[in-house]
Amino acid sequence: MQALLLAGGLGTRLRPLTEHLPKPMAPVVNRPWLEHLLKHLRSQGLSDFVIAVKHNADIIRNHFGDGRRLGVTIAYSQEPELLGTAGAIKHAEPLLSADRFIVVNADIIHHVDLMPLLEFHRSSGAMVTIGLTEVEDPSQYGVVQQTPSGRILRFVEKPPRHEAPSNRINAGIYVMEKETLSWIPAGRAVSIERETFPLLIRKGLPVYGCAVRGYWLDMGTHDRYLALHRDALDGKIGLQLPYPMKAEGVWIGEDTHISSHAKLIPPVVIGRGTRVERGAVLGPYAVLGEGVTVQADSRCAHAVVLPGTRLEGNRVFRHAVVAPDFMVTTRLPGDLIRQGVMQP
Ligand code: GDD
Ligand code: MG
Repeated sequence: MQALLLAGGLGTRLRPLTEHLPKPMAPVVNRPWLEHLLKHLRSQGLSDFVIAVKHNADIIRNHFGDGRRLGVTIAYSQEPELLGTAGAIKHAEPLLSADRFIVVNADIIHHVDLMPLLEFHRSSGAMVTIGLTEVEDPSQYGVVQQTPSGRILRFVEKPPRHEAPSNRINAGIYVMEKETLSWIPAGRAVSIERETFPLLIRKGLPVYGCAVRGYWLDMGTHDRYLALHRDALDGKIGLQLPYPMKAEGVWIGEDTHISSHAKLIPPVVIGRGTRVERGAVLGPYAVLGEGVTVQADSRCAHAVVLPGTRLEGNRVFRHAVVAPDFMVTTRLPGDLIRQGVMQP
């Protein structure tokens, strides 16, 4: 079965991480998320992908090419302008060959078993089946109201919290019959959440929802980006970590230089080509990208350090996403500190 991955959005809430990077390419334990996602979907028997791209499309194309390296086939649907979530699906129509396909929001971190969703879709006779999950505060998501058989009566995108009809939200994974495309106008921006789903429901067409099981997180904010790394290191996501485990909870890439006077507190990931100087204390939950330098007596915990960053000596990096030219600490939400102006 074919899967269409929506990967064209701007990822504004994760800036500056996504300033020059499509959000699905944000590194998750030193590999672009999209690579983990393709491997996960491959493990579910999917091998034929269309990726709908727009924002920083070349980064995705150059990384995956035709997909051969991952043992899959990838075609790209390039939008001339952002067409929205339904517009992107409509634009990809010429590349969708079968009568039924899967659509995935490529920025969702998940490790979901798709088979029950497909089975539900087949047996209910739905035109679209929306994978659902539950969250405490549904106001940042698409929220549904269902009948006991799973049919969706209402779909409301990002309602104020007190108006949300339930805690069941759109997990960003759909099984779709191709006839759905005839309900999406071509050539203009269309939101599947705000326009297409409500239209199908109004027309009485069979739109169903089915709970998905497995890890699920929208990485949309820096807080959640750090939380997902914690979960990955705790083995909750089922991701394959890119390096061998050298000691319990310590993963180290090739060509690293780690001083014997540095301390590693698991779990810790140290990227290829990284240098850790004497007196440094790393972990717990430190993920260092490739080619990072940790100078003497620096401390780093509950943090993600992007490739090529130099952590200055004698400083503390906690609850932070650190890059060569910025650092976001999550103790104060949205707190952005350019490295040059950071206080020791
Ligand atoms: N190709 C393309 N073109 N992709 C797009 C476009 C577009 O115009 N707009 C958004 N996307 C992609 C994004 O890259 C992302 O992977 C996915 O579609 C969803 O867009 P977001 O902008 O991240 O939406 P959201 O997170 O606010 O809400 C969506 O996801 C929630 C689950 O996390 C909605 O689908 C909600 O209903 C859902 O609950
Ligand atoms: Mg999103």
